[in-house]
Amino acid sequence: MRVIIEESAEEVGRRAARILARQVREKPDSVLGLATGHTPLGVYRELIRMHTEEGLDFSQITTFNLDEYVGLEPTHPQSYRFFMQRHLFEHLNAHPSRIHVPDGRALDFASFCRRYEERIRMAGGIDIQLLGIGRDGHMAFNEPGSSLGSRTRLKTLASETIRDNARYFGTEDRVPRLAVTMGVGTILEARQCLLLANGPHKAEAIQRTIEGPVTSQVTASALQLHRDVIIILDEEAASRLERVAYYRDVERAQSLLESGGLRALGIGPGTGNG
Ligand code: F6R
Repeated sequence: MRVIIEESAEEVGRRAARILARQVREKPDSVLGLATGHTPLGVYRELIRMHTEEGLDFSQITTFNLDEYVGLEPTHPQSYRFFMQRHLFEHLNAHPSRIHVPDGRALDFASFCRRYEERIRMAGGIDIQLLGIGRDGHMAFNEPGSSLGSRTRLKTLASETIRDNARYFGTEDRVPRLAVTMGVGTILEARQCLLLANGPHKAEAIQRTIEGPVTSQVTASALQLHRDVIIILDEEAASRLERVAYYRDVERAQSLLESGGLRALGIGPGTGNG
């Protein structure tokens, strides 16, 4: 796991956007896994800027979103489909037929979820999966106790998540109780995972994710089993990590590797350091 600590939430967003932009430049028909919520907003702002000012081309990408509330129409202002349209898709040149957000109004969720997984496979699998994290350590809507092998399915939201998300709905009783979400197992199949977190309220979940045991009680901790994970944090989200000095050392070595500064020692680029 590569842990990158940035000075501010804005820097977290810009750093993540640079990683996604590089992916799209190197492989224009990349398959991107996308997230909603407050955390990725800075990433999306920066990707839109790169598209409008630098001509970054998204015309060949395919996207799969992590999750959606059950019962909300795509036009509902709190639906994740609406969120993605407003904060990203309507500003890019991604082709609508290659944009996928789980359907919160599916009539048969079991078959919808099977088809969603099938579509990911048919698209060649996800190249980079963008992730946020809940205060209870959830990634997507995989609440504590979710199987670490789980696939796309319906999930009951935990009371902590309902409380946290009530800010978007006005009151807690308006927050849907169920969501369709990619499973932990689905996420772990992405070729690379990019987890972002900002703010002091994420510090404990981040400490447990990175330095605690792998446990279904903190589903993001399953990322420890993935071979290519980058976690980007602001100082506050990193504030409870015990091995910060080491993560910073790794990053210094990584930039030397990338800039060729270690060539004198016979160590070249491409050497893993995660
Ligand atoms: C959203 C998602 C959730 C959020 C998490 C953090 O698609 O999958 O896991 O990433 O709840 O939400 P924010 O970023 O609003 O703090």
